Amino acid sequence: MSEDLATLRQEIEDTPLGTEEAIDGFRIRFLSRKQGVITALMKRIPDIAPENRKTYGQDVNALKQRVEARLEEAQQALSSSNAPGTDQTDITLPGRVVPEGSLHPLTQTMDLIVHAFSSYGFQIAEGTEIEDDWHNFTALNFPEDHPARDMQDTFFIEEGKTLLRTHTSPVQIRVMKSQPPPVRVIVPGRVYRNEAISYKSYCLFHQVEGLYVDQGVSMADLKHILHAFARTLFGHDVRMRFRPSFFPFTEPSAEVDIWWPDPDLPGGGRWLEILGCGMVDPNVLEAVDVDPEVYTGYAFGMGVERIAMLRYGIDDIRTLYENDVRFLKQFKS
Ligand code: PHE
Repeated sequence: MSEDLATLRQEIEDTPLGTEEAIDGFRIRFLSRKQGVITALMKRIPDIAPENRKTYGQDVNALKQRVEARLEEAQQALSSSNAPGTDQTDITLPGRVVPEGSLHPLTQTMDLIVHAFSSYGFQIAEGTEIEDDWHNFTALNFPEDHPARDMQDTFFIEEGKTLLRTHTSPVQIRVMKSQPPPVRVIVPGRVYRNEAISYKSYCLFHQVEGLYVDQGVSMADLKHILHAFARTLFGHDVRMRFRPSFFPFTEPSAEVDIWWPDPDLPGGGRWLEILGCGMVDPNVLEAVDVDPEVYTGYAFGMGVERIAMLRYGIDDIRTLYENDVRFLKQFKS
């Protein structure tokens, strides 16, 4: 055997073949049709001097057989070590239970509200949490220095210019600026107010805003849609009432209460406010270049925390923000 072949023989015997990749690499190196070492040696047979040809051919063949034998052994060793029960694994042990997560009660409530309104034909719109004063106040008919601007204690980023939105109503403005009527949108989102934190108020919370602007939209349409919504959320027999109220961007304005039965209370329950609403003020339509002589609209806005707390019987808003898994686990969807 020539020296070359002897070196190759050594390599064939010494290459470790413990993994699938090593076996593949070994097969390619020696037997590949295009570049395999053995294949190349075979091709050289016709060029070998006739007197040496026989021995050469036998040597190359012997190498080829060693390669094949090693491949065969390695393959067998590998597949028997992968067989079940050959390592330390006890395959009779019960499987590990993957803990199942659930949606946050606020997300569930928000989804429920948005889903109800999408089924009435409302489209979902979103704005930005950092707003400017014009969208959050001015375009919504809050006059400069009007006490209503103090009503919502604002987190200003730049006093009088940019702020964390105090409600989702600025999205009404954004939507109406970007598309002509008819507009029918539902706007879920997070809002911020600089309020003292207590069991009933937090510095951030969620609202869902609704807006419908078209020709001939009336207060009756508003009452109808909100009644349908209250039934979806609180059951067919829900009692609700509209109470006159004030918002700068709606005229007339109302707040909606639902009757919450509670046998422990005198009177058997109490009225709870769930949202604010009204007919879009003509000044707001003018601010977004919609002609109030042609179009009318209604708007409403509700607090998601409030509704979640009612639905799930939660009595402290802060628990919704503590991310205590023991609390959250109770609200499996
Ligand atoms: N933006 C009002 C609030 O935050 C709610 C509202 C929205 C009222 C739309 C009327 C119409 O209190």
